[in-house]
Amino acid sequence: MTWLVTGGAGYIGSHVVRAFTADGIPAVVIDDLSSGHRSFVRDDVPSYVGSVLQRELLDQIFTDHTIAGVVASRRLQVRRASRSAGRCTPTPKTSPA
Ligand SMILES: NC(=O)c1ccc[n+]([C@@H]2O[C@H](COP(=O)([O-])OP(=O)(O)OC[C@H]3O[C@@H](n4cnc5c(N)ncnc54)[C@H](O)[C@@H]3O)[C@@H](O)[C@H]2O)c1
Repeated sequence: MTWLVTGGAGYIGSHVVRAFTADGIPAVVIDDLSSGHRSFVRDDVPSYVGSVLQRELLDQIFTDHTIAGVVASRRLQVRRASRSAGRCTPTPKTSPA
């Protein structure tokens, strides 16, 4: 059950990733590094450098990992993945922990 954290190399995103890994929950990061820092992401966390607007990159991530849900730190929304469709479907906004 892997969670995708967009903006995971940013301030909030990197803390979300740390919280997941501290609880033993796998996480994967996508970040275009426009304001984030690669060093904010642990080396053992899979990271993809690119934009969430790059559909092919997202397809690659969803191929490489079984994504249970997405934390979009920039908008502070949590979206749960639809296992049947293999895509994300919006759920009501959730406040950050
Ligand atoms: N930091 C705070 O204290 C705080 C408090 C309240 C709300 N927020 C909100 O939380 C959100 C994140 O804040 P932050 O401080 O973590 O910002 P941040 O700039 O540190 O993190 C944002 C991350 O998103 C990445 N990013 C930007 N556009 C991208 C794209 N198209 N594709 C992939 N990655 C992309 C950036 O490179 C960066 O790593 C913002 O919306 C901010 O307004 C932050």
